[in-house]
Amino acid sequence: MNRMTEPPLDPKSLREAVDWAIVTRRSVRAFLPTPVLARDIESILETASHSASGMNTQPWQVHVVTGAAKADLSAHLAALDDDPELAAGLTEAYEYYPRQWVAPYLDRRRKVGWDLYGLLGIAKGDKAGMHRQHGRNYGFFDAPVGLFFTVDRQLQEGSLLDYGMFLQSVMVAARARNLHTCPQAAFLKFHKAIARCLHIPDGQMLVSGMSLGYADDTAIENTLSTEREPVSSFTTFHSEPKEIRA
Ligand SMILES: Cc1cc2nc3c(=O)[nH]c(=O)nc-3n(C[C@H](O)[C@H](O)[C@H](O)COP(=O)(O)O)c2cc1C
Repeated sequence: MNRMTEPPLDPKSLREAVDWAIVTRRSVRAFLPTPVLARDIESILETASHSASGMNTQPWQVHVVTGAAKADLSAHLAALDDDPELAAGLTEAYEYYPRQWVAPYLDRRRKVGWDLYGLLGIAKGDKAGMHRQHGRNYGFFDAPVGLFFTVDRQLQEGSLLDYGMFLQSVMVAARARNLHTCPQAAFLKFHKAIARCLHIPDGQMLVSGMSLGYADDTAIENTLSTEREPVSSFTTFHSEPKEIRA
């Protein structure tokens, strides 16, 4: 396929296929051990590399972790995560989340958290249960493939915008191959340990981790359904000229 290739489907099927891949992308938090073919990983990344980036900077660098390398790294991070003293002194790779959570973001954050914990039978106040579930991030929710995405520290905020497009393309291209993903900011606090384990140069900053694999459809956490606001709540259509505000 190249950038001028004719659509492989009639217009209605094409729209349905593209929308299907976007809408069925969801964060999966339990994967089957079924391996992912190396050629599928490569073709997902090749497809995603066609994402737009300002001035075609293509700021993405990807580390694919599988097999013993993934098992070693996961064990190392789990040990760090279970050490409260160590975990307390860690700094994030960058500030992904707001320092102060305000409405409506706080409400959305709470809802997705409690919906997930509710499905898993983790009660409010069950700190050990929450820690255990959060800790599943570091084993990539049992996915056979872990991805780490890094960016050159020389680049600016705009490159993170480009990166978001790349990450979405990876996740959508995964759906086209019947694979699922979970993007993971949970790794950001372990960026130094990850860089040490994978020999990532100091000049690179961790942007996100991601699990990749086949979803375990029998897992209760994979029944989580997150809500979206209607288009009317976040879109303003301007068709008539307005007086310029003083
Ligand atoms: C950059 C990014 C980082 C995220 N980090 C985590 C994470 O560390 N662990 C996790 O379980 N989910 C993580 N998520 C998933 C979000 O919770 C999820 O996208 C959101 O609740 C919407 O649900 P959906 O992805 O199923 O549509 C992350 C999502 C994004 C985009």
